[in-house]
Amino acid sequence: MRLFSLAPFLALAAALPAPGNGNGKPDNGQHNGNGGNGCNGKGNPHCQGGSTRPTITPSPMQPRVPFPSPAVRTRDCVVPVSGGDDSEAILAAMQSCNNGGRVVFEKDSTYTIGTALDLTFLQSIDLDIQGTIRFTNDTDYWQKAGFSFVFQNVTTFFKLGGDDVFIYGGGTLDGNGQAWYDLFAKDKLIMRPVLMGVDGLKNSIIADLKWRYSPQYYSFVANSSNVVFDGIDITGRSKSEHEAKNTDGWDTYRSTDITIQNGHVDNGDDCVSFKPNSTHILVQSMWCNGSHGMSVGSLGQYAGTFDIVEHVYVANISMNNASDGARIKVWPGSAASMSVDLQGGGGEGRVNNITFTDWQLTNVDYAMTITQCYGQKNATLCTEFPSKLTISDVTFKNFAGQASTKYAPQMAYFQCSSPDVCYGIRAENISVTSPAGAKQAFCFNMDNSALDVQCTTQNNPGEHSGGAK
Ligand SMILES: *[C@@H]1O[C@H](CO)[C@@H](O)[C@H](O)[C@H]1NC(C)=O
Ligand SMILES: *[C@@H]1O[C@H](CO)[C@@H](O)[C@H](O)[C@H]1NC(C)=O
Ligand SMILES: *[C@@H]1O[C@H](CO)[C@@H](O)[C@H](O)[C@H]1NC(C)=O
Ligand SMILES: *[C@@H]1O[C@H](CO)[C@@H](O)[C@H](O)[C@H]1NC(C)=O
Ligand SMILES: *[C@@H]1O[C@H](CO)[C@@H](O)[C@H](O)[C@H]1NC(C)=O
Ligand SMILES: *[C@@H]1O[C@H](CO)[C@@H](O)[C@H](O)[C@H]1NC(C)=O
Ligand SMILES: *[C@@H]1O[C@H](CO)[C@@H](O)[C@H](O)[C@H]1NC(C)=O
Ligand SMILES: *[C@@H]1O[C@H](CO)[C@@H](O)[C@H](O)[C@H]1NC(C)=O
Ligand SMILES: *[C@@H]1O[C@H](CO)[C@@H](O)[C@H](O)[C@H]1NC(C)=O
Ligand SMILES: *[C@@H]1O[C@H](CO)[C@@H](O)[C@H](O)[C@H]1NC(C)=O
Repeated sequence: MRLFSLAPFLALAAALPAPGNGNGKPDNGQHNGNGGNGCNGKGNPHCQGGSTRPTITPSPMQPRVPFPSPAVRTRDCVVPVSGGDDSEAILAAMQSCNNGGRVVFEKDSTYTIGTALDLTFLQSIDLDIQGTIRFTNDTDYWQKAGFSFVFQNVTTFFKLGGDDVFIYGGGTLDGNGQAWYDLFAKDKLIMRPVLMGVDGLKNSIIADLKWRYSPQYYSFVANSSNVVFDGIDITGRSKSEHEAKNTDGWDTYRSTDITIQNGHVDNGDDCVSFKPNSTHILVQSMWCNGSHGMSVGSLGQYAGTFDIVEHVYVANISMNNASDGARIKVWPGSAASMSVDLQGGGGEGRVNNITFTDWQLTNVDYAMTITQCYGQKNATLCTEFPSKLTISDVTFKNFAGQASTKYAPQMAYFQCSSPDVCYGIRAENISVTSPAGAKQAFCFNMDNSALDVQCTTQNNPGEHSGGAK
């Protein structure tokens, strides 16, 4: 009886797309559960035919945990454009389509957000962003109302968090940063919002979006786990004489199992930065231009805190026109000052098991950088008070290309505050040369035999402080 009554359902199920795959193709055994249509439109009057979900697969490395495989959603909420502040309508659509729906931002529409939005309630939802979402440039409002966090005074336009969120659509998030770049030139202490604030997000994918003109970092990823960023395109140069500053692509913080891949980043600060308590982070197949490189840190900035960055793997990177390539920056044991808006030192912790492999570099000032004296211009003072944050097990491997003329004939900088707190540093198969043809490096308190460069203790042409934040 039972078996008979089940049979028609089984037949129906076979005719439907495979669950979580959605494109009708059989599961090939590889992880491929995120493509297909985000809302199951066939015979479902609640789906309006948004864009197709991108299929996200890891390459060249596999992450520790498989990429999320979100279920197909069953209803759409299309956000109307009002011509004014669309924040309320956006919030309403997310509330109404939460738990199994998809929010659609229509192509060729520009939505305006002029109100800080707490989006940490998201649960099993797709955001199909085909149009443009632009933030207002009311610098007074955002400094008062933006979400602010203790870490480095980070402020965000919105905070996005929850579980099982899939964002895609080929659209744009525009931070409208020009007003901020110009204001920052007058006042270094203003609170510039981060474009994409992520706080407490799990098992989610953010893919195929353009991020433009962020006032500060493009994204801050905090308190999150198993989140994938794929195919994010970043650019946004200032149109005035005031440069866009501190425009990191990603800053990860108190997060684990984060993958960032296939990004195209044109910016003026770190391409990706691994801030305190970033563990099991995979960054791969990225193109970066004009940046400060892939940076661990800065860490140890705050006395009384314990910062951990470990199990980080950064592979298949094209790094162009950058001040640094692969970099680790740690504050020394005593207080130091980098600039008016950046002081620190004395914090504890560890940087451990970091791999940078298969990099192609052009016009990079230092291809590899380790400093355990960040912010301290007096090297004697740095060795007198070595860092309380250890650096161990760091591998740079298969680096090819050309450094810039800036520090020629040097192309790398390795400065430990003491060998007791800095060990297991390897540089293997390094063929990056300075324009003069040499691969000379500044090496201080290091085991030079593990470094495939020509070490010298002559710092040329003077100490390198390595950019901001
Ligand atoms: C945060 O901003 C305040 C006020 O501008 C400043 O005094 C403080 O040093 C900043 N703190 C950090 C950690 O950057
Ligand atoms: C603020 O943005 C609006 C619209 O995007 C623009 O017209 C205006 O010039 C901007 N203001 C400043 C100070 O940049
Ligand atoms: C992360 O979580 C902690 C603890 O719940 C909270 O205090 C903090 O505001 C959250 N966000 C950030 C960015 O630290
Ligand atoms: C390496 O990264 C480039 C982008 O810079 C990408 O085109 C290529 O497919 C990646 N290789 C692998 C094996 O993933
Ligand atoms: C790369 O950065 C340089 C400045 O460092 C800029 O002139 C160039 O246009 C950028 N290229 C791309 C493709 O963004
Ligand atoms: C990082 O993790 C360690 C160990 O769990 C903890 O003691 C420390 O407070 C954390 N630091 C931050 C900035 O969350
Ligand atoms: C080092 O990190 C990699 C991931 O980047 C991980 O696969 C490996 O197990 C870690 N090694 C140790 C000894 O923890
Ligand atoms: C590097 O910058 C120069 C101009 O400074 C530009 O011509 C070149 O295209 C840039 N490289 C890349 C890969 O964008
Ligand atoms: C650096 O610090 C040492 C030790 O405290 C001190 O003797 C020296 O004068 C300092 N050098 C400079 C240039 O300040
Ligand atoms: C050394 O690195 C180059 C690329 O920079 C790569 O083609 C080559 O296979 C590497 N050699 C070894 C022995 O890994």
